Amino acid sequence: MDMNQFIQNIPKAELHLHIEGTLEPETLFRLAKRNGIRIKFNSVEELRQAYQFNNLQSFLDIYYEGAGVLQNESDFYELTWEYLLKAKEQNVRHVEIFFDPQTHTARGIAFETVIDGIYSALADGSRDLNISFCLIMCFLRHLPESEAMKTLVQALDFKEKIMGVGLDSSETGHPPSKFMGVFEKAREEGFRIVAHAGEEGPPEYIWEALQGLKAQRIDHGVRALEDTALINELKRRQIPLTVCPLSNIKLCVFKNMRDHSFKTLFDQGLCVTVNSDDPAYFGGYVVENYLALQDAFQLTRNDIAQLAINSFNAAFISQDKKEKFIDQIKKFMAE
Ligand code: ADE
Ligand code: ZN
Repeated sequence: MDMNQFIQNIPKAELHLHIEGTLEPETLFRLAKRNGIRIKFNSVEELRQAYQFNNLQSFLDIYYEGAGVLQNESDFYELTWEYLLKAKEQNVRHVEIFFDPQTHTARGIAFETVIDGIYSALADGSRDLNISFCLIMCFLRHLPESEAMKTLVQALDFKEKIMGVGLDSSETGHPPSKFMGVFEKAREEGFRIVAHAGEEGPPEYIWEALQGLKAQRIDHGVRALEDTALINELKRRQIPLTVCPLSNIKLCVFKNMRDHSFKTLFDQGLCVTVNSDDPAYFGGYVVENYLALQDAFQLTRNDIAQLAINSFNAAFISQDKKEKFIDQIKKFMAE
């Protein structure tokens, strides 16, 4: 089995995936047509051409515009189902999916439309594709905390469908400390806590996510390397980092994959995981992200297996389930 097949076939979890970021140009055009929405691009090719970003904000502007084609429950269902088919192809056994309700409720789409569409596809995927799942609701950090609080209150009616809450969107100038109140309430309600931090923002934002929000996982966290005390803390507590290599290159966090902090973080014994973030926009799903790292850093099969093991250890699933998945990796390695 060549390395390509090995990465494809090894059982893995994906923990950092924005469902709105799986909207492929073809799907975007199909939904725009069906829903009578005008888009400023004439073709799939022209749209793909526009996927050239120089920072996080330049991506988010296009990403929020793209999400405008999602109108009905069936649109959210199809979006999620298409991602799950891709995940199945790549032997992803467990997914933890982010969704951004505010991106849709701000356009007059009901919270219920969004969650029902996504959740029913995930439930079908669990039954028909054998992919287990959790849903994580993210607050948009460029908006005020009061808006996040309203979103949390809306979400309480769907509490049994939502495992955790997170924080995404424009990082610079919007530190985690802005959201202490809403995350405190989310913890009281029993939600798991994650937050994007240290993607473009400084290591202080990672400290704030850990200490202020009590994040159990850090999304990205790739700038942690700039702070030795922080590295020691992340290592000591084995706080998982959900790293998204192709995203970081596309958004110019690092110039080349060889400059990425991944390898140093991994070699220092942090719980690093590999994920795709917004695969329709960044040129690859989870397998392509593993391959990009393998190519840049000459990862061994044991390295890949360790990353896959980390992905299950970092997941919001029971210890029993983690052990079952990790046993599958061990069996796969022994084949
Ligand atoms: N929303 C979707 N993708 C994101 C990213 N990479 N960072 C912050 N917010 C996002
Ligand atoms: Zn992200």
